[in-house]
Amino acid sequence: MIKLSVPACAMFALSASAQFNNPLAIPPALDLDTFHLVVDEHVHQFYPGINTNTYGASAEYLGPTLIMHTGDTARIRVHNDLSQITTMHWHGLRVPGEFDGGPQRVIDPGDVWDVKYQVKNPAGTYWYHPHPHMLTAFQASMGIAGFIIVQDDEEAALDLPRTYGMDDFPVVVQDRKFDANGDFVIGPFGDSVLVNGTPRPYLECPAQVVRLRLLNGSNARVYPLGFENDQPFSVIASDGGLLNAPVTMDRIPLSNGERAEILLDLTGMEGDSLLLMSYGSELPPTVPGSSYVLWESSPLSGIDFPVLRIRITAPTADPVTTIPATLGTAQPYDEAFATGSRTKTLTGNGMVGMGMFMINGAMYDINVINDTIQLGSMEVWTFQNNSNMAHPMHIHGGSFFILDRDGIAPPAWERGAKDVVLVDVDEAVRVIMRFDELSGEEWPYMYHCHNLMHEDNMMMAQYIVVDPHMAVTGRMDDGSITVYPNPTEGMVHYRSAFPVRTVEITDNVGRSVLRDKVSERSTGTVDISGLRAGVYTLTLRNGGNIFHTKVIRE
Ligand code: C2O
Ligand code: CU
Ligand code: CU
Repeated sequence: MIKLSVPACAMFALSASAQFNNPLAIPPALDLDTFHLVVDEHVHQFYPGINTNTYGASAEYLGPTLIMHTGDTARIRVHNDLSQITTMHWHGLRVPGEFDGGPQRVIDPGDVWDVKYQVKNPAGTYWYHPHPHMLTAFQASMGIAGFIIVQDDEEAALDLPRTYGMDDFPVVVQDRKFDANGDFVIGPFGDSVLVNGTPRPYLECPAQVVRLRLLNGSNARVYPLGFENDQPFSVIASDGGLLNAPVTMDRIPLSNGERAEILLDLTGMEGDSLLLMSYGSELPPTVPGSSYVLWESSPLSGIDFPVLRIRITAPTADPVTTIPATLGTAQPYDEAFATGSRTKTLTGNGMVGMGMFMINGAMYDINVINDTIQLGSMEVWTFQNNSNMAHPMHIHGGSFFILDRDGIAPPAWERGAKDVVLVDVDEAVRVIMRFDELSGEEWPYMYHCHNLMHEDNMMMAQYIVVDPHMAVTGRMDDGSITVYPNPTEGMVHYRSAFPVRTVEITDNVGRSVLRDKVSERSTGTVDISGLRAGVYTLTLRNGGNIFHTKVIRE
């Protein structure tokens, strides 16, 4: 993890902060049956009078915030009006490989991709961006990216700020480099910081508890974010939804693709202002954005610089004034239920903007499936970084939990559901993940370094999730496994081809609602009379043996 050292002088930050007078752009939030994203070329003025060629998703730069609801079906029509191929990936969402928008799911120029999937993630901050083979950094740098906010009943029941643009704000941080004509120079580092596409922005926040949804949308730079004067804030959510309790911090390090939701208590501060900073001087030399001299130089590397000025205005009519003591109920997966493990060793000596970095000795090959995983497995993956640089490692197909870093449990803010984890040099990070969505050979899931330069330089691999045993009738063709009666009013009996060790029932959005260890017998009974009527998945496991079936509770 990032080890914070003594901060250097912040003079640069203080002098530069005076000019933060561009109102922060807030992308429109859409809550629609069908979202329509038109990916196209545009010209945008980040600075008055200077035209910059950009790409955007139904916008000159970036795209709208898509509001989705857990359990609902999201429908999106992606229209490619670029003169090159693209794809669209829903980063962090647990969707089957077919709808994941990886490099195989090409949308040709002029074509449309109609995609729909059930939203299975809990409330949280996710995002979308293109994922075309070797073009991800380019297209994302040009401006194609946007937020996805998932809402659910659990989050809605909490007294949290959630009025978009009033007390709940998306904040995507991107560094960009401009050439003399005002166009982007695509590379690992920029020397200007854009927030939601706004340079030197300010945001008016009411004097109450406000919520910032922070996203590192940069190619390679890592931001240790915090407020001047070390004003504390509460981290309430990580990549994949609410933490179980808020964590008070004065820094939140965000690597590429990572999100954090924070609450900032501005009560009684009307008329004041506060500066959100990136404390780059505190980065260890192994992390892109530090002052490490052998890497690409950037005026922003190794220094503390301002990101966003917050101007505090009068409170709203119905302000949130307290921070809830408890939040979500997500339980990290229990390692005792793991059905397998894999080690992913990262090697190579390279620069921030280039390869050659490898995962288990290989570079990305779009024609090779690197891992095959059984549907319903729960695996422990170890990222062992033997290279010369920290890498933000990302796995498609859902969220994982961090078990430990070098054998030590992660800090509280890293204990929620995650999909990106920064793995430092010489560090071993173990994560545990469940693979509950199918992803066949045609549409594999990716796992990769989310430094977009590394990703495009082949620091990526792909896996599929297969189900040899899926039985919709609860009966294997050979009669070896049966589940009866089905539908049921309460009791479900099973007879299995293997001695069963664990029995699990999950609901239609994948939440575990019942879990039992049983003494390796091939017959048994599960009592689901306590569950409400609906369709569930029954999973029987023993090590690598897994069997699923749909069970209907009447
Ligand atoms: Cu943010 Cu493979 O993606
Ligand atoms: Cu992703
Ligand atoms: Cu990397």
